[in-house]
Amino acid sequence: QQPPLIDPFARAITYLRVSVTDRCDFRCVYCMKENMTFLPKRDLLTLEELDRLCTAFIGLGVRKLRITGGEPLVRRDIMTFFDAMGRHLDSGALDELTLTTNGSQLAKYADALYAAGVRRVNVSLDTLDPEKFARVTRWGRLEQVLAGLDAAQAAGLRIKINAVALKGFNEDELFDLVAWCADRDMDLTFIEVMPMGDLGNEQRIDQYWSLKDVRAQLAERYALLDLAERTGGPARYVKLTETGQKIGFITPLSHNFCESCNRVRVTCTGEIYTCLGQEDRADLRAPLRAAPDDDAPLVAAIREAIAAKPKGHDFDYSRQRADGQVSRHMSHTGG
Ligand code: GTP
Ligand code: 5AD
Ligand code: SF4
Repeated sequence: QQPPLIDPFARAITYLRVSVTDRCDFRCVYCMKENMTFLPKRDLLTLEELDRLCTAFIGLGVRKLRITGGEPLVRRDIMTFFDAMGRHLDSGALDELTLTTNGSQLAKYADALYAAGVRRVNVSLDTLDPEKFARVTRWGRLEQVLAGLDAAQAAGLRIKINAVALKGFNEDELFDLVAWCADRDMDLTFIEVMPMGDLGNEQRIDQYWSLKDVRAQLAERYALLDLAERTGGPARYVKLTETGQKIGFITPLSHNFCESCNRVRVTCTGEIYTCLGQEDRADLRAPLRAAPDDDAPLVAAIREAIAAKPKGHDFDYSRQRADGQVSRHMSHTGG
C-alpha cells in the first residue's frame, strides 16, 4: 500500500474527477462558445490510458471517481471504460463510481451504467421550460433529457439535478424546480455561476445570482434545517422541514469551500488541474506514455502535482473582470 495523497494544506485527495472528452452535444452559454473547436482525437487519452491513470489514482487512495466531460456519454465506447472501472467497486478499492451528465444520452445508457456499478448520477438541468432550455443549451431538447431521467430512474439510478442559478433566467423557477424534484424523488443542488470561459460582450456578473438569496427565498416558504452530511463534493445541504426534501448549495463565490477540498481533476488530454479556479496544472500523459508497463513515472508526476496544489480559487466578482476570471472553458476540466 502506497502512502496517500496529501497536499501542502494537509488535505487528503480522495476524489478524482476525470473528463473523458471535451465534446458535448449541447453548448451551454456559461460553459462553451457556440463555435467551439474541439481537440483532435489523437490528443485524447485512450480508454486504456484512462484506465491506467484512474487505477493509479485509486492505488494512491482515491475513493470516489467521477466521470465528466464535455458530455462523457458522447465518447465512443465509453461503457467499456465504465465496465472496467466497475472492478474497483467489486474489489472494495473504490466507494463510488459516478458521472456528471447533461442527460441527453441517458435513455440509451442508463441500464449499462447501472450494470457497471453506477448508483447515482448528477444531471445538469437549469430550467423546466422547453424554450428556455433550448436557449441556455443553444439547441438542446428538454424532452430528450426528461426521457433520459425517466430511463435512469427506471434503471435504479438515484438522480441529483444540478441547476446553475442564473439571474434573470431561472429565478422565477426556483419553487417549480424544488417541487418538480420533490415529485420525482430527485435531489436538487444549485450552483453559483463561475467566471470561466471567454465571455465576449456578456459579463458573468450580470448572470450571478447568489445562493444566499436563493436560500433566503426558500426560507420564506419553508423552515430550513442545515444538514451536517456531505456527499464528498463541495455542496452543503439543507432539509426543507415541511417536505423532508434535501437541497444542496455549491457556493464558490458567496462561501468559499476550499479549505475542505478533497479533489483534483484530470482533463481528457491527461493534464492534472489541482484547482478548478487556478491555472496550476501538470502533464500526466507524457509519463503515462513514456513507460507503458511501469506506473512509477506517472505516480511520481501525480505526487509532484499534488505537492503544489494551491490553497484555493480566487473567483471574485467584486474586482474588475480580467482578474477573477479564468479563461479556460468549464468543459475543459469538467466542472
Ligand atoms: P456529489 O458527489 O453529488 O457531491 O457531486 P459534486 O458536487 O462533487 O459533483 P458535480 O459534478 O455535481 O459538481 C457540480 C459542480 O460543482 C461542478 O460542475 C462545479 O461547477 C462545482 N464544483 C465541484 N467541485 C468544485 C470545486 O472544487 N471548486 C469549485 N469552485 N467548484 C466546484
Ligand atoms: N459556473 C457554474 N457552473 C457551471 N457549469 C458549467 N459551467 C459553469 C459555470 N461557468 C456546470 C454545469 C454542470 C456542471 C458540470 O458544471 O451546469 O452542472
Ligand atoms: Fe478545491 Fe480549488 Fe475547488 Fe477550491 S477551487 S474547492 S481548492 S479544487
